[in-house]
Amino acid sequence: MIELKVNDQIQIVDVEADTPLLWVIREQLNLVGTKFGCGMAQCGACTVHLNGQPIRSCVTPVSAVAGQAITTIEGIADDSGKLSKVQQAWIDEQVPQCGYCQSGQIMSAVALLESNPNPSDSDIDAAMRGNVCRCGMYGRIKQAIKNAASV
Ligand code: FES
Ligand code: FES
Repeated sequence: MIELKVNDQIQIVDVEADTPLLWVIREQLNLVGTKFGCGMAQCGACTVHLNGQPIRSCVTPVSAVAGQAITTIEGIADDSGKLSKVQQAWIDEQVPQCGYCQSGQIMSAVALLESNPNPSDSDIDAAMRGNVCRCGMYGRIKQAIKNAASV
Protein backbone atom coordinates (compact mmCIF):
# COMPACT_ATOMS: atom_id res chain seq x y z
CA MET A 1 0.00 0.00 0.00
CA ILE A 2 1.24 3.47 -0.88
CA GLU A 3 -0.16 6.71 0.54
CA LEU A 4 -0.45 9.60 -1.89
CA LYS A 5 -1.59 13.19 -1.45
CA VAL A 6 -3.32 14.17 -4.67
CA ASN A 7 -5.13 17.49 -5.03
CA ASP A 8 -5.07 17.87 -1.22
CA GLN A 9 -6.71 14.49 -0.66
CA ILE A 10 -5.04 11.46 0.88
CA GLN A 11 -5.33 8.36 -1.28
CA ILE A 12 -4.18 4.85 -0.44
CA VAL A 13 -3.35 2.75 -3.48
CA ASP A 14 -2.45 -0.91 -3.75
CA VAL A 15 0.07 -1.02 -6.59
CA GLU A 16 3.65 -2.12 -7.20
CA ALA A 17 6.23 0.43 -6.07
CA ASP A 18 7.57 0.93 -9.59
CA THR A 19 4.16 1.60 -11.17
CA PRO A 20 4.30 4.91 -13.03
CA LEU A 21 2.46 7.70 -11.25
CA LEU A 22 0.51 8.35 -14.48
CA TRP A 23 -1.01 4.88 -14.36
CA VAL A 24 -2.11 5.39 -10.77
CA ILE A 25 -3.57 8.83 -11.44
CA ARG A 26 -5.61 7.63 -14.41
CA GLU A 27 -6.48 4.06 -13.54
CA GLN A 28 -6.64 3.95 -9.74
CA LEU A 29 -7.84 7.48 -9.03
CA ASN A 30 -9.83 8.03 -12.25
CA LEU A 31 -8.27 11.45 -12.79
CA VAL A 32 -8.16 11.16 -16.56
CA GLY A 33 -7.36 14.78 -17.37
CA THR A 34 -3.67 13.83 -17.31
CA LYS A 35 -2.81 12.17 -20.61
CA PHE A 36 -0.53 9.41 -21.84
CA GLY A 37 1.47 10.51 -24.86
CA CYS A 38 4.91 8.99 -25.34
CA GLY A 39 5.56 7.26 -22.03
CA MET A 40 9.22 8.32 -22.30
CA ALA A 41 9.40 11.85 -20.84
CA GLN A 42 9.49 13.30 -24.36
CA CYS A 43 6.11 15.02 -24.87
CA GLY A 44 4.81 16.52 -21.63
CA ALA A 45 1.22 15.25 -22.01
CA CYS A 46 1.48 13.60 -18.59
CA THR A 47 2.72 16.69 -16.70
CA VAL A 48 1.56 17.07 -13.10
CA HIS A 49 3.02 19.04 -10.20
CA LEU A 50 5.10 17.55 -7.42
CA ASN A 51 5.41 20.09 -4.62
CA GLY A 52 4.56 22.77 -7.18
CA GLN A 53 7.15 21.71 -9.75
CA PRO A 54 6.21 20.14 -13.09
CA ILE A 55 7.18 16.49 -13.48
CA ARG A 56 6.55 13.81 -16.08
CA SER A 57 4.27 11.35 -14.37
CA CYS A 58 4.84 8.67 -17.04
CA VAL A 59 8.41 8.09 -15.83
CA THR A 60 7.90 8.76 -12.12
CA PRO A 61 7.57 5.64 -9.96
CA VAL A 62 4.66 6.07 -7.59
CA SER A 63 6.81 5.08 -4.62
CA ALA A 64 9.07 8.10 -5.28
CA VAL A 65 6.25 10.56 -4.57
CA ALA A 66 4.58 8.91 -1.60
CA GLY A 67 3.33 11.46 0.91
CA GLN A 68 4.32 14.45 -1.23
CA ALA A 69 1.96 17.03 -2.72
CA ILE A 70 0.80 15.99 -6.18
CA THR A 71 -1.46 18.27 -8.19
CA THR A 72 -3.23 17.28 -11.39
CA ILE A 73 -5.20 19.37 -13.86
CA GLU A 74 -8.32 18.54 -11.80
CA GLY A 75 -6.77 20.29 -8.81
CA ILE A 76 -5.84 23.72 -10.13
CA ALA A 77 -9.25 25.39 -10.05
CA ASP A 78 -9.99 26.93 -6.65
CA ASP A 79 -12.21 25.22 -4.07
CA SER A 80 -15.33 26.97 -5.38
CA GLY A 81 -14.65 25.50 -8.82
CA LYS A 82 -13.57 28.85 -10.27
CA LEU A 83 -11.08 28.26 -13.08
CA SER A 84 -7.49 29.30 -12.54
CA LYS A 85 -6.36 32.35 -14.49
CA VAL A 86 -4.37 30.09 -16.79
CA GLN A 87 -7.39 27.93 -17.56
CA GLN A 88 -9.46 31.05 -18.25
CA ALA A 89 -6.76 32.47 -20.51
CA TRP A 90 -6.70 29.18 -22.42
CA ILE A 91 -10.43 29.50 -23.06
CA ASP A 92 -10.24 33.17 -23.96
CA GLU A 93 -7.45 32.52 -26.50
CA GLN A 94 -9.15 29.34 -27.77
CA VAL A 95 -5.83 27.55 -27.42
CA PRO A 96 -6.79 23.89 -27.86
CA GLN A 97 -7.21 22.28 -31.22
CA CYS A 98 -7.45 18.52 -30.63
CA GLY A 99 -6.79 19.24 -26.96
CA TYR A 100 -4.72 16.17 -26.21
CA CYS A 101 -1.59 17.98 -25.06
CA GLN A 102 -3.39 20.77 -23.28
CA SER A 103 -3.63 19.62 -19.69
CA GLY A 104 0.13 19.10 -19.73
CA GLN A 105 0.64 22.50 -21.33
CA ILE A 106 -1.52 24.15 -18.67
CA MET A 107 0.30 22.40 -15.82
CA SER A 108 3.65 23.63 -17.12
CA ALA A 109 2.25 27.14 -17.59
CA VAL A 110 0.81 27.24 -14.07
CA ALA A 111 4.13 26.16 -12.59
CA LEU A 112 5.96 28.79 -14.64
CA LEU A 113 3.73 31.63 -13.49
CA GLU A 114 3.91 30.55 -9.87
CA SER A 115 7.70 30.80 -9.95
CA ASN A 116 7.92 33.71 -12.41
CA PRO A 117 4.79 35.91 -12.55
CA ASN A 118 6.10 38.05 -15.43
CA PRO A 119 8.00 35.73 -17.76
CA SER A 120 9.80 37.00 -20.85
CA ASP A 121 9.36 35.29 -24.20
CA SER A 122 12.55 33.34 -23.61
CA ASP A 123 11.39 32.36 -20.11
CA ILE A 124 8.18 31.01 -21.64
CA ASP A 125 10.07 29.17 -24.36
CA ALA A 126 12.39 27.58 -21.80
CA ALA A 127 9.59 26.54 -19.45
CA MET A 128 7.37 25.15 -22.20
CA ARG A 129 10.07 23.50 -24.32
CA GLY A 130 9.25 20.02 -23.08
CA ASN A 131 5.56 20.20 -23.92
CA VAL A 132 4.90 19.12 -27.49
CA CYS A 133 1.77 20.16 -29.36
CA ARG A 134 1.27 18.18 -32.53
CA CYS A 135 -1.40 20.65 -33.60
CA GLY A 136 1.19 23.43 -33.48
CA MET A 137 -0.71 25.76 -31.18
CA TYR A 138 2.47 27.27 -29.76
CA GLY A 139 1.58 30.85 -30.66
CA ARG A 140 -1.73 30.72 -28.83
CA ILE A 141 -0.13 28.94 -25.87
CA LYS A 142 2.41 31.73 -25.52
CA GLN A 143 -0.24 34.43 -25.87
CA ALA A 144 -2.44 32.75 -23.25
CA ILE A 145 0.48 32.63 -20.82
CA LYS A 146 1.09 36.34 -21.38
CA ASN A 147 -2.59 37.07 -20.86
CA ALA A 148 -2.65 35.07 -17.63
CA ALA A 149 0.49 36.87 -16.44
CA SER A 150 -1.23 40.22 -16.91
CA VAL A 151 -4.27 39.35 -14.76
S1 FES B 1 3.57 10.74 -21.73
FE1 FES B 1 4.96 11.49 -20.26
S2 FES B 1 6.24 12.86 -21.33
FE2 FES B 1 5.01 11.91 -22.88
S1 FES C 1 -3.89 20.80 -29.28
FE1 FES C 1 -3.59 18.95 -30.39
S2 FES C 1 -1.67 18.22 -29.68
FE2 FES C 1 -1.85 20.16 -28.82
